[in-house]
Parts: sequence; structure tokens; C-alpha cells
Amino acid sequence: MAEILINGNKKLTGKISVQGAKNSVLPILAGTLLIKGECEIHNCPNISDVDASVKILEALGCKCSKQNDCVTVDASCVTDYKISEDLMREMRSSVMFLGAIIGRMGKAVISNPGGCELGPRPIDLHLLALQKMGVQITEEHGFLYCDVPNRLNGTEIHLSFPSVGATENIILAAVTASGTTVIHNAAKEPEISDLADFLNSAGAKICGCGSDTIYIEGVKNLHATSHSIIPDRIVAATYISAAAVTGSEIYLDNVMPSHMVSCLSLFKESGCDIVVCGKRLKVIPPKRLQRIPTVRSLVHPGFPTDAGPLMITMLSLADGTSIFVENIFENRFRYVGELNRLGANIKIQGKTAIIEGVPKLWGASCKCTDLRGGAAIVVAALAAEGQTVIGEISHILRGYDDIVGNLSSLGADIKII
Ligand code: EPZ
Repeated sequence: MAEILINGNKKLTGKISVQGAKNSVLPILAGTLLIKGECEIHNCPNISDVDASVKILEALGCKCSKQNDCVTVDASCVTDYKISEDLMREMRSSVMFLGAIIGRMGKAVISNPGGCELGPRPIDLHLLALQKMGVQITEEHGFLYCDVPNRLNGTEIHLSFPSVGATENIILAAVTASGTTVIHNAAKEPEISDLADFLNSAGAKICGCGSDTIYIEGVKNLHATSHSIIPDRIVAATYISAAAVTGSEIYLDNVMPSHMVSCLSLFKESGCDIVVCGKRLKVIPPKRLQRIPTVRSLVHPGFPTDAGPLMITMLSLADGTSIFVENIFENRFRYVGELNRLGANIKIQGKTAIIEGVPKLWGASCKCTDLRGGAAIVVAALAAEGQTVIGEISHILRGYDDIVGNLSSLGADIKII
């Protein structure tokens, strides 16, 4: 199994162009299923979750090709509506395909996505909404059999929680349904607006994304289009955290500061100067990072749960004690034990992490527990004195496009062994 080896405590310098957003490209690739023609998706990150999505599209009958950062999908003839169990297991967020397959084929069979490293990942909100739209769903031996006996009908849906995935699945099922669908208490993440921009460029009629209420007026057909994916705000936060913990001034290109207001304000609160100029930003860290009394993860536009591990890693080296409260996932602290192996002093009480800042971290051997937790261990290792070897790096490769190449281009002593 490949591992990442880092000799830490080195200053970084230079510029990184931030990749396209994983959590935007995945629902958009699912959305190509609704379009009887060839779509070009640009600024696609080169990550294993995209490869897994392409495998699913090809298994359903699409013709796909990848040229640098452009993925082309021709869904002119979709021949299947089932996603095999092993393909479902490859990527937890493949539940995203459910709405699109139903929208295109009028039926779908997927295996119930199991939990993941963040805890149980229920999809009750997805299924409730689809049933309200006229989908009949039965579960047998771990598979979900979905069928639309009549038509997918637009309807009013009130989400009890502004679930990102449920909002996206409803949009994907509603764009070609008959009538209008209204989603109340919709998720407001920028990736949802990006999905709507893509679908609208293909002839869909979606408005209200970014607000609590999204309106989707069903249309008969969608036409081929091309779209460029928004930058990945969590990957941007990852590199800012790396600059902060190594006391390095770096530049990030291809950033959307308006998508990461809550992140940037917390990096500033810890003493970093963030100079923004269009889609470029410069990070100027302080000599000593300051504690932040309390950080809470919230739905957008609150502080994103995915940036939590990167924020906690930075605060593990701040002056004083910080508190991080995780409000979105049940089990998002599994990587903390690995940070403590590097010398961090973090205690977990339920959904709260108590982070006592330490002056230094020390290299050790670690294992990734999940995608963002793995990235957090890489960031901590960049600051740590000595050598760190990181195992189970497939978690990181799911969402980070060439993190080793990017960090070594900034002068980090990092390689895959
Ligand atoms: C998306 O996951 C992202 N994944 C996650 O990013 C991100 O952390 C999350 O949104 C929150 O922003 C993708 O976009 C592929 P949710 P999703 O539905 O859609 C509960 C990463 O690191 N819930 O908003 O699964 C759920 O258990 C990943 O890139 C239900 O109870 O998130 C969780 O506690 C990790 N029932 C909370 O809501 C449901 O039917 C938020 O889930 C659906 C969700």
C-alpha cells in the first residue's frame, strides 16, 4: 500500500492553483445522465471519486472520456438503471445518482449505501422526498428498488434538515418531472448553486439556489452543454491551514473567497492575514497562532464541517485552548487520535474537541481515517519536527488532486513511497 512520507518543519513558498470542487463535480456528473447529448465538464479534479463516478456512468451506458481537466459524458443512450453493489461501495456519495437515474429511466436499483468513516449516513430525507414526488421505493436484502408507476410529479418538499445530498437528489429528480417542485429548508452550499448553473445551462428551470427555498419547474428535455466546476473551498482551506502551521506566506489561485467567508474569518481570528485580489489570495501567517475560544461547524454559510479537521490541526499549534463543536456528523473526530500521536493535545467529549495548543509537533507513523482527517494529518506532518509516514492514503486521493505534487511545488519535503 502506498504511503506518504514527510520531513516536516520546513517553510513553504510559492503559489498553488486550487482544483475544482469534488462536492460539485460529483452531482454534476450524475446530472449528465439527464441530458441526451454530449456534455463537457471542465476544471474537473483528478481524484478517485471522479473515476468512480465515470465508472458508474459507463456501467449505465454512457460514453465517457477524460482529457486533462475535462471530462466528456455522452448520455445519449442510457441502457441501465441499476448500480452494482461494488460500484456503490466504491463511493459513498453514489446515492447522488438515484435522482438522476429515476429522472432519466423512471426507475432505479441501488444498494443501500452503508455508513462511512463519519458515522451512519442515513438517506431517509432523500427517500422521503422522492416518495412525495411519486417514486415507489421498496428495500430488500440491502437493495433499494425504486419505480415510478405513473409520472414524477413536482411537489412541495419541506426538508427537516438542510441536507446537501437530499437537496441535490431532489433537484436532479425534479428537473424533468411534470410540474414545479419547491424545496423548503434547502441546503445553501455553493456546490448546489453550481449544480443548478450546470443544469440551467442545459435548459433546466431552477431558481432560488443559495436561499432557503429552491424552485424547479419541470422541463421535457435538456440539451448538451459545457460547464466549468467552481473551485474547491475545502481544498483551499487545507492549503491555508498548511501555510498557517508552517508559518509560510503562500499564494492560492483559482479561489472563490465569497464561498469561504466563514473559513477566512476564522483564519484571520487566529492571526493570519488573508489578502484577497479577485480569484487569488495571499496567506500571511502570524509568528504565533492565536487560540479561537469556540468554533462550531454549521450548515452553509456557517463554518463547514469538512474544514473542521484542518481548523483543529491549526488550533493544535495555537497559543492557548480552543473548543471545536461538530454539529453535522456524529463521528468526525476519528483522525484526532492520529494528531495526538504527532504530539497534539486534543480531548474529545461527545461532539466537542478541546484543543490545548502545543509549541511543537513531532513526526510519527500515522494512518488516515477519512478524507479530511487524512488531509489534516498531512498538514500536521508539514509542521512536525522530523519524519512522518502516513498510511491508508487512498482516503486522501478520493478528494485531493495531486496534494503531494502541489505541496512539494511549495518546497515541502513530501513524497509518495
Ligand atoms: C455532503 O455530504 C458532502 N459530500 C460532505 O462532504 C459534506 O460534509 C456534507 O455534504 C455537509 O456539508 C458530498 O457532497 C459528496 P448531508 P451529504 O446530507 O450530502 C444527516 C467531504 O469531506 N442526514 O448534508 O451526505 C447526515 O447523517 C464530504 O467532501 C440525514 O440524517 O451531507 C449528516 O449528519 C464528507 N438523513 C447531516 O444530515 C439524510 O437523508 C448532513 O448530511 C441525509 C443526511
